[in-house]
Amino acid sequence: MLVGLPKEIKDNEYRVGLTPAGVRALTDAGHEGVVEHNAGEGSGFEIELYTRAGATLLDSADEVWAQGEMIVKVKEPIAPEYPRMREGQLLFTYLHLAPDAELTRQLLERKVTGVAYETITDRKGTLPLLTPMSEVAGRMAIQVGAQYLEKMSGGRGVLLGGVPGVPAARVVIIGGGVVGTNAAKMAVGLGARVTIIDNNLDRLRELDDIFLSRITTLASSAYAIHGAISEADLIVGAVLVPGAAAPLLVTREMLKDVPNGAVIVDVAVDQGGCIETTHPTTHSEPTFYVEGVLHYCVANMPGAVPRTSTFALTSATLPYALKLANKGFLEAVSSDVGLKAGVNTYAGKLTYEAVAQAQHLEYTPLDNMLGGTTAATAASSTASEAR
Ligand SMILES: NC(=O)c1ccc[n+]([C@@H]2O[C@H](COP(=O)([O-])OP(=O)(O)OC[C@H]3O[C@@H](n4cnc5c(N)ncnc54)[C@H](O)[C@@H]3O)[C@@H](O)[C@H]2O)c1
Repeated sequence: MLVGLPKEIKDNEYRVGLTPAGVRALTDAGHEGVVEHNAGEGSGFEIELYTRAGATLLDSADEVWAQGEMIVKVKEPIAPEYPRMREGQLLFTYLHLAPDAELTRQLLERKVTGVAYETITDRKGTLPLLTPMSEVAGRMAIQVGAQYLEKMSGGRGVLLGGVPGVPAARVVIIGGGVVGTNAAKMAVGLGARVTIIDNNLDRLRELDDIFLSRITTLASSAYAIHGAISEADLIVGAVLVPGAAAPLLVTREMLKDVPNGAVIVDVAVDQGGCIETTHPTTHSEPTFYVEGVLHYCVANMPGAVPRTSTFALTSATLPYALKLANKGFLEAVSSDVGLKAGVNTYAGKLTYEAVAQAQHLEYTPLDNMLGGTTAATAASSTASEAR
């Protein structure tokens, strides 16, 4: 298969869909790679690394899109990319179609096969191509929080780990999933006093096993949250209710009891945030104050560390890209229900139910279109095959 790798053109997006190692894996498997000459620049991959990996460099995105049978990207296509998409082309990237009526229309009209990272599932029913970005954001939350706690950055002038004779800062993490656990690892590593709040008692038991006595776990309630944040230096919002807006767990009223100059990092802001006073911010203007508390609510935190994020993302996507290239689209999705769950558009039809519902469009199950060729019993085995 001829695999195309264009440069990302969305504002402030420096990640790239494949590392040179990813291109090498594809060319070693007998595929061809065409790479836009500056595709890897933002993530620090020099051109020669891609040529050494066996790719052909092309001068323009137009050429890459024109030649690529499968286009591997990071972000959903934006307006200048729409005319480059063509019938039957396989597009493997984050799509986030539910709120994007225009992109959905373009993919359907142009009959593009859109496989979305964010809806691929694994054997456990979780979303393996979202996990790496949650890991990055969770770890970053503490790094960013520590920085904003410094006086010069607008915080209350507290060092997370304290020093001998001075207590460490208190970090309260609301939501103990992927983001919350990774935040806790960093905070514990820096010597902070960490509390994790979750409404899933089994998850709290697991966290207690992982961290032993180095963290405090609390069952989620308004009372517990209010009490914990009233003494917090750093609060991390990390809840998720799949498919729904984040629940509002910290009210503006509660913030009156949070120490002045404390910092909130609401990672869940991309789902509306779990703090009443949250609104999405950008890397160029990341923070604002409410009730004397500094809020950091950047909706695409991993964008600040594109090199790490590119490595993390492509480690997770590459096995699927290889499967699509090796087997071809039909056989790949027929043998892997998890990968099949990633197919949002195919041959002009909308094949992902939640997107169809969100946009009041007709939903066509992919199985109906493939004439029963997909094996309903096939397990999603891609990730484990690759390891
Ligand atoms: N801002 C960013 O750049 C960025 C990057 C990655 C992920 N995210 C977001 O971070 C959020 C968390 O992602 P994740 O991968 O950790 O999700 P996850 O599903 O792994 O974890 C969410 C946790 O929230 C808990 N939870 C749900 N309702 C709760 C409640 N009422 N009280 C306490 N806990 C509750 C769940 O039990 C679960 O443990 C998501 O909204 C995700 O989209 C943002």
